[in-house]
Amino acid sequence: MSYKIAIDGPASAGKSTIAKLLSKELGYVYIDTGAMYRALAVFLLENEIDINDEILIKKNIENVNIDIDIEYINGEQVVKLNGKNVNKKIRSSQVSDAASKISVFKCVRDKLLVLQRKLANEQNCVMDGRDIASNVIPDANLKIFLTASLDCRANRRYKEYIKKGFKTTLDETKKEIKERDNRDINRANNPLIKVSDAHLLDTTNMDIDEVLDKILEMSTGGFDNGN
Ligand code: DC
Repeated sequence: MSYKIAIDGPASAGKSTIAKLLSKELGYVYIDTGAMYRALAVFLLENEIDINDEILIKKNIENVNIDIDIEYINGEQVVKLNGKNVNKKIRSSQVSDAASKISVFKCVRDKLLVLQRKLANEQNCVMDGRDIASNVIPDANLKIFLTASLDCRANRRYKEYIKKGFKTTLDETKKEIKERDNRDINRANNPLIKVSDAHLLDTTNMDIDEVLDKILEMSTGGFDNGN
C-alpha cells in the first residue's frame, strides 16, 4: 500500500510549491492534478472547442490522452497532451480560467479521475488539487487544506506571472483568482471543500520553510490540528 498525502486548497495557496518540496524531502512522487485539467483546457482551446459546451467537450475528449511523466525535467514534472510536453502552455491566465471552467463538467472530472487514482495507488505520493481528500484519495494518510488570504495569494500569483513574462496587473490577477475560487467552491461536481479530518494550514504569515516543517511534523504524527 502506498503512503498518500493529499493537499487541497484555493488557487495560488502555494500547494504545488509545497507539494514539490515535500515530495523531494520524503522521496515521494508529486502529482499535480491541476496540470491535468490545464492540459485538457489547452487541447480544447487549441482546437477551438467551446469550453462552455459540455456535450461538445464530452464528444471531443474521449480519445484525448493526458499523462504525467513523473520523472522531473529541469525540476518540473512533465505534463503530456497526446504524447507532447505542454508544460510551457499550461500556466497562462487564459488556461487557468479555462481549466476552472471545464472542471465543472462530470465528463472532464471522470476522465481525469481514472488517471489520478491509478497514479496515486502505484507509489508513495503527494497529490494536490481541489478534491483530492474528498474524492480522489479519501483514504489518504495525511490530508492538508492549505490556504492564505486573497491578497496574499494574488500577490504571489502576480509575481509569478510577471516572472514568466505574462502581461497583467495585480488587480486583474486578484479578480481572476476570486472568480476561479468561486467557481471551484460552488460547482456541483466535487467542489473544493475542507474535509473534517484535514489539517487546516493558513500560510498568510508563514514562509515556505515554516510551512514545510509544519507538514513534515504532521506526516510523522507529531501535530495536533485541534479538530
Ligand atoms: O491547481 P490549479 O490552479 O493548477 O488548477 C486549475 C483548475 O483546475 C482549478 O481552478 C480547478 C481545476 N481543478 C479541479 O477542479 N480539481 C483538481 N483536483 C485540480 C484542479
